[in-house]
Amino acid sequence: MKMRTLAIGLAAATFSLAALAQQPIVIKFSHVVAADTPKGKGAEFFKIKAEEMTKGRVKVEVYANSTLYKDKEEMEALQLGAVQMLAPSLSKFGPLGVKEFEVFDLPYIFDGYDSLRKVTLGPVGRQLLDKLDAKGIKGLTYWDNGFKSISANTPIKSPADLKGKKMRIQSSKVLEEQYRTLGAIPQVMAFSEVYQALQTGVVDGTDNPHSNLYTQKMHEVQKHMTITDHNYLGYAVIVKKKFWDGLPADIRKQLDDAMEQSTRYANQFAKIDNDNALEMVRKSGKTQIYTPTKEELSAFKKAMVPVHKKMESRVGKETIDAVYKATGFNPAKL
Ligand code: LMR
Repeated sequence: MKMRTLAIGLAAATFSLAALAQQPIVIKFSHVVAADTPKGKGAEFFKIKAEEMTKGRVKVEVYANSTLYKDKEEMEALQLGAVQMLAPSLSKFGPLGVKEFEVFDLPYIFDGYDSLRKVTLGPVGRQLLDKLDAKGIKGLTYWDNGFKSISANTPIKSPADLKGKKMRIQSSKVLEEQYRTLGAIPQVMAFSEVYQALQTGVVDGTDNPHSNLYTQKMHEVQKHMTITDHNYLGYAVIVKKKFWDGLPADIRKQLDDAMEQSTRYANQFAKIDNDNALEMVRKSGKTQIYTPTKEELSAFKKAMVPVHKKMESRVGKETIDAVYKATGFNPAKL
């Protein structure tokens, strides 16, 4: 009788161990933008590819639009292991202590997607991602979003039009300095709070790639927008290093492949998404869109580019020079 009970017990334990072994590895992927944005689409694509390529051994749960965590909280959640994957904007790594990432915030440092990709797809981009190791974070890849336009309730045709304006920014010393240089008042605020802050007049204006402006409906509470293309906003897809290194090697390889495909997918649509969003904002008729003349654009550049020099001691001359070299940017040739 005793032997029989033991045998049943052993069988049950073996069964539950087997069931446990089949439990999928869950990756919670949290982000702050709408699902219908370049980042949102990249995350959904990764979910499909990761689950397909690991044959269900990995389950990816995507939480869009700050449903789990707001900007600053999501980084803490990753470090605590409450989520496994994030794609924060590149501005978010300066406050984490990896100040070199703020090179991406320097105004007009990239002259479009081609120049940007010389960095994100090249050795300078990889070296920057590797600096995250020291924070217990593994930087997997870069995902594009786009170039920002400035919005407000009054027309912005010259740098002087920004004087005294309260402008929402992400937490970044470079962005702070940029708006101070323009005589504006930068206000750090979580992305999920911007719509309401614009609606209630807590801030006068902000800046966004068009996909973010449109999907958060910010154009409904901003009367004017100027296509300045002054800053780039993009992402690094990151995981907690301990989690990533602890994955079975075959699964990690499959996830790397899924991520590579997702990067190609996300980056292929980033510009199209932003162009489409601009058209939707235009069609809504709620925001007047202004395209600056060559001279006006040049005035914005001349007013903002001195921020590169001012922020050299924070970002690091070596990093700024490496980006200049990769893209061919020359501040003297504005
Ligand atoms: C912002 O706060 O404006 C961006 O970081 C949002 C995002 O993730 O695109």
